[in-house]
Amino acid sequence: MDMIDTIIKEKAYGKLNLSLDVLGKREDGYHEMLMVMQTISLHDDVTVTVTGGTGKISVSTNKHFLPNNEKNLGYKAAQIFMTELGINNIDVGIKIMKHIPVCAGMGGGSSDAAAVLRAMKRATGVTLTAQDLLRLGAKIGSDIPFCIYGGTAIARGRGTEIENIRNLFDCGIVAVKPFFSVSTPALFNKIDSVKVMIHPDTEGLVAAIESGSLCETARRCFNVFEEALTGKEAATVRSAKDMLLNEGAECACMTGTGSAVFGIFETHEGAKAAGEVLGREFKECFVATPVEKASEI
Ligand code: C5P
Repeated sequence: MDMIDTIIKEKAYGKLNLSLDVLGKREDGYHEMLMVMQTISLHDDVTVTVTGGTGKISVSTNKHFLPNNEKNLGYKAAQIFMTELGINNIDVGIKIMKHIPVCAGMGGGSSDAAAVLRAMKRATGVTLTAQDLLRLGAKIGSDIPFCIYGGTAIARGRGTEIENIRNLFDCGIVAVKPFFSVSTPALFNKIDSVKVMIHPDTEGLVAAIESGSLCETARRCFNVFEEALTGKEAATVRSAKDMLLNEGAECACMTGTGSAVFGIFETHEGAKAAGEVLGREFKECFVATPVEKASEI
């Protein structure tokens, strides 16, 4: 393949779990998931430069504490793309400008990797079906297939089986990231040892989104991982949720394995006003809107 130097810029959107359920432990060591996922406008900016070369990958970010080697999910995405497609005559430079909070449950790293996959597909011009791309994504991490196309979707299995549903109605979103971060494997281990008493009504949530009802949607947003939190962490999440509800959120919920907590507001103005109040309490506070599924990538 003859390569012309190509620079591709991609927005790597964050995600929220409108619901998250863990159905049990699988034989492969992962957990069986049932989630409703939502892309939001808060995004990282990913620039991928592809030049003729010998298969070298470099990655840089604006956060000194993030890895700039093969531990970086963006790096892994480029590596897997080239290995799987047998491409070895290019070099790839990845620049990631982070805006999505790290270790928040908002899919920042996964979204960066998904953006690298989209950029690599465009830069190399290879023919790949949507299924091929999702399969590549699943090799990198469980949340990556959803992040490739985004929108509003049910995620099943390891989290990699994606079924898009009607895009979420227009609304305002506020997300805050408390001081603590949760280790994903540790929280999965913890959920194995607690008896989950309440499960989200996923079917009802999907029906509510399909019917465009904010009120019916809001009352069904729920994350079972909140039940596995204890002590100061549980108290912090509870207090973030209370603050969001006090400022007019229709619902408040933790996303993924946390620690970010989000609220859904009827209007953008309502979210903006709440964001100003919550921003005084949380250094990392974001106002966003839902983003629809990408039609073409
Ligand atoms: O797939 P990913 O690398 O993002 O998963 C990170 C960790 O989260 C896994 O090593 C596993 O401990 C846990 N996990 C799980 N079940 C899932 C997804 C993730 O147990 N469905």
